Amino acid sequence: MKKLLFLLDTDPLPNTFDIVVAYDAGVDHVTPLAGVTPANVGKLVEGVVFTRPPASKKFSALFVTGSNMADGEALLKAVRRQFFGNFRVSVMLDSNGSNTTAAAAIAQLARDLPLAGKRAVILAGTGPVGQRAAVMLAREGAEVVLASRAIDRANAACRAMNERFKTSLTPAATPDAAAVSACLTGAQIVMTTGAAGIELLPQDLWANHPTLEAVLDSNATPPLGVAGIEMQDRGTVRHGKRCYGALGFGGLKLALQRHCVMQLFERNDLILDAPEVLAEAVALLGSTAPRDDA
Ligand SMILES: NC(=O)c1ccc[n+]([C@@H]2O[C@H](COP(=O)([O-])OP(=O)(O)OC[C@H]3O[C@@H](n4cnc5c(N)ncnc54)[C@H](OP(=O)(O)O)[C@@H]3O)[C@@H](O)[C@H]2O)c1
Repeated sequence: MKKLLFLLDTDPLPNTFDIVVAYDAGVDHVTPLAGVTPANVGKLVEGVVFTRPPASKKFSALFVTGSNMADGEALLKAVRRQFFGNFRVSVMLDSNGSNTTAAAAIAQLARDLPLAGKRAVILAGTGPVGQRAAVMLAREGAEVVLASRAIDRANAACRAMNERFKTSLTPAATPDAAAVSACLTGAQIVMTTGAAGIELLPQDLWANHPTLEAVLDSNATPPLGVAGIEMQDRGTVRHGKRCYGALGFGGLKLALQRHCVMQLFERNDLILDAPEVLAEAVALLGSTAPRDDA
């Protein structure tokens, strides 16, 4: 039976990245559907859940994507509302690579550094990657501050994540370098998840910081989000801190996305969102011992 993946994209054009990764993962056919909303997804879900017999339903699956996290979450909710009994298929949510990118970064970090009890600051945490990274750090036991240039956006993102994942993210406003510096007081971890090509953390704010232990950046488009690290850094120690650049965990992100996509075809009732994708990332990294080069 052919493995069919339906890409439900909340954007007006389908995400080509997710299509390529799905084929590379081993899916037989990918159907990209753009402009999908909670209002128009009903028939799309019906066509997938009613067609194949119970034992073969697992060969159809759904992948929710798009550039807006809230839209993706609303769509996933609407999809799940359509399921009943065994009339369901597996679904993964990964708007803008949010879950796979965040999970790759946090799993890599967790392998190198205990996270429980650490104070972590996510700069520009209001985007899809930042929101999911904040949730994953919190679930690993860190005390997480999600920062934005505007406090109302930080508030909204924290409220949404805390409600969805029962976390206790704290919002903060970091409109300028002075506010970023103040926000980093007592922090052990800082991660920048800003839009591509925006420097958010100048080197002088982290290099000599007295408590920071790890610095992560998800932006792979120069200038990087963190000045003074390299995008290939993967736990590279700079100024006594472990540094992680976007390409440093980009390989794991891709492998993780391919792995998660194929997991969808193992059963017909899997829901892959932040906690599940993080668990898959940790499992993929395996029990490899932490590096001892700190
Ligand atoms: N390494 C990988 O494999 C991988 C995969 C996917 C994405 N990425 C990268 O991860 C990063 C985050 O992705 P995303 O989709 O979550 O980001 P996004 O939604 O495009 O942006 C995240 C946040 O950046 C802030 N921002 C936007 N323009 C800004 C500006 N001019 N100055 C300062 N801050 C600005 C905004 O926060 P506020 O307005 O609230 O301040 C925004 O919510 C991007 O750089 C993306 O390219 C990497």
